[in-house]
Amino acid sequence: MGRKRRPEPPAEERHEAEERRRSEAKRRVEELRDLIDYHNYRYHVLDDPEVSDAEYDELMRELRALEEEFPEFITPDSPTQRVGGAPTELFAPARHRVPMLSLDNAFSWEELSAWGKRVERAVGRQAEFVCELKIDGLAVALTYEDGAYVRGATRGDGYVGDDITANIRTIRSVPMRLRGTGHPKVLEVRGEVYLPIKAFEELNDELRDKGQKTFANPRNAAAGSLRQKDPGVTASRPLRLWCHGVGAVEGRRFQRHSEILDYLKERGLPVDPNVRRVRSLEEVFDYCERWQRSRHSIDYEIDGVVVKVDQIALQEELGATSHAPRWAIAYKFPPEERTTLLREIGVHTGRTGMVTPFAFLEPVFVGGVTVSTATLHNEDEVKRKDVREGDTVIVRRAGDVIPEVVGPVLSKRPPNAKPWKFPKKCPSCGVALVRKGAYWFCPNKAGCPSQNIEWLFSFASRGAMDIDSLGYKTGIQLIEMGWVKDPADIYSLTREQLAQLPGFKEKKIEKLLTATLASKDRPIWRLLVALNIRHVGWHVAQVLARALPSVGRLKKARLEEIEAVEGIGPEIAQSVYEWFHDKENLRLLEKLRKAGVRMEDEEPEPLPEGPLTGKTVVITGGLVSMSRSEAEQAAREAGARVASSVSKKTDFVVVGENPGSKYDRARQLGVETIDEQDFLKRLKG
Ligand code: IVH
Repeated sequence: MGRKRRPEPPAEERHEAEERRRSEAKRRVEELRDLIDYHNYRYHVLDDPEVSDAEYDELMRELRALEEEFPEFITPDSPTQRVGGAPTELFAPARHRVPMLSLDNAFSWEELSAWGKRVERAVGRQAEFVCELKIDGLAVALTYEDGAYVRGATRGDGYVGDDITANIRTIRSVPMRLRGTGHPKVLEVRGEVYLPIKAFEELNDELRDKGQKTFANPRNAAAGSLRQKDPGVTASRPLRLWCHGVGAVEGRRFQRHSEILDYLKERGLPVDPNVRRVRSLEEVFDYCERWQRSRHSIDYEIDGVVVKVDQIALQEELGATSHAPRWAIAYKFPPEERTTLLREIGVHTGRTGMVTPFAFLEPVFVGGVTVSTATLHNEDEVKRKDVREGDTVIVRRAGDVIPEVVGPVLSKRPPNAKPWKFPKKCPSCGVALVRKGAYWFCPNKAGCPSQNIEWLFSFASRGAMDIDSLGYKTGIQLIEMGWVKDPADIYSLTREQLAQLPGFKEKKIEKLLTATLASKDRPIWRLLVALNIRHVGWHVAQVLARALPSVGRLKKARLEEIEAVEGIGPEIAQSVYEWFHDKENLRLLEKLRKAGVRMEDEEPEPLPEGPLTGKTVVITGGLVSMSRSEAEQAAREAGARVASSVSKKTDFVVVGENPGSKYDRARQLGVETIDEQDFLKRLKG
């Protein structure tokens, strides 16, 4: 009864180069996951981050982009699946006293059964379970103090969420006071806010009537409604809540999870009536099977079943990993399939010139979103599936996976439907396509508008030259006007030219020109990403730039020299070498250089030699004889490295007046602490 977790095109049809890219992507996805987990741990557990928030975000962005391109590499424990969305700046941060963990997933009966057996083996006896529906909504934590509602927060990253106290107040089913008497001092209730399907449809109709953007699914609508700055807007959306557990509790102990749910119900909190307490794994399967069949019989979206060990003592014995409890699991329903009309097969030329076919579909609601296009991967894939324009096709989408066309419903094929033929010419520039392996490419690197737009867009993207105001729309305008033929042309745009574009007023022109100017001074690794060199993404670019930190050195480097760089394999080296020996590319580099784009990284300045050489120093609290920045400067001049947080590697902490948590941390770790007088002495050696 097992089923495949994530669909993959058959191996024999994948082109060799694509395969290499896939394996490089897989390796990088795994590496990113480890890195992000590590930084999460440093930040949340050790309270001692090693990277800035911006660097962390960059890692997450890269992982998301790779997972979007290769959904088959998404695993349930990927940080992208775990993080419910970083807290936004719109709301005050709300730190959770007990972290809001995620759940591990089971995608088949085998996985569910293996979990159940593991649980029973670990506790040495038969466990009892509670089965709940897995509500596809937004996780929240509501705090009641002595029975009164005092705070509402989103999950955020599990440790810090958004304070949405006022918005939660507008949800009518949330009691502002708990029923009865003798309330615990603190009761933090965990649950899922959702928008009923009917209300979602009504809301979208209303938005459509007003000419406003509609929501893709009830979950997005709930999230959008809850994260309103104006609680009045939240109040106008009929949000609901199902409570499914507790977080921090003071003044009350529970023996069973089912007892918690009964208690919440009794105190007036909404608990899903479909929850069941069961006594065996058999009954768990029955529950899952039943709800898999009747998931559409209720007025809210569910994407699975959550199975929890009922006895709290057993839960405690089982414990949790860093991100999920071992005593609970989410059984995820299989990908949903729907049939719809395939109106047309189109092709798109991407940044690298690869031409990809895709299906234009009659919009269909499947797996929680409305799908109107789906990729068909390549020519062989279209042939293998034999999908034709006018066919009724099966469309599948599982939660986080991009929609795919499974195949045609042959019994519904119109008699005149013809096999689809891959176009011979590029849909964008009309140049004859060439086939490499399973893929068709447009060879018109310089003159193809579609490739140029995609390239311009990726050149300017946040992970490359980071030109914030140069989006897709502006890129198209610039190319259509004939002003931009390659990315270097953006550096010669004038105020007068931009003023001719529709929608470009003084402020917008200024913003674009300033952002373009600022991008001239980016580190070399960003330029390398922006240059669109095959196999060179964020990570490879950084490795390369560290070893060969100038365009001049990269141009002169022999193939063996590039290959010798730690972390650069022969294929990447070959691709980089070829790129830097292509006449057209060299012309582009020269153009960028002339435009004033930075072509080399500055070598980091060596630390001055002094009495504190080799020491890592942290300063906390106010000093009397100098300001904090003067103290930091003085320490640097004496040869020290000044860090912003205390770790085991810190040599000593200078403690001034009213020191912060860094002082406590230093004491906790046994790091030496010194006062201002001592610091002044050490500066002098
Ligand atoms: S229990 C430590 N019960 O699913 C256990 N979660 O994929 C934490 N969810 O973050 C969650 N329905 O937001 C639990 N009946 C249910 C749920 C549920 C939906 C969400 C919850 C969680 C996510 C994990």
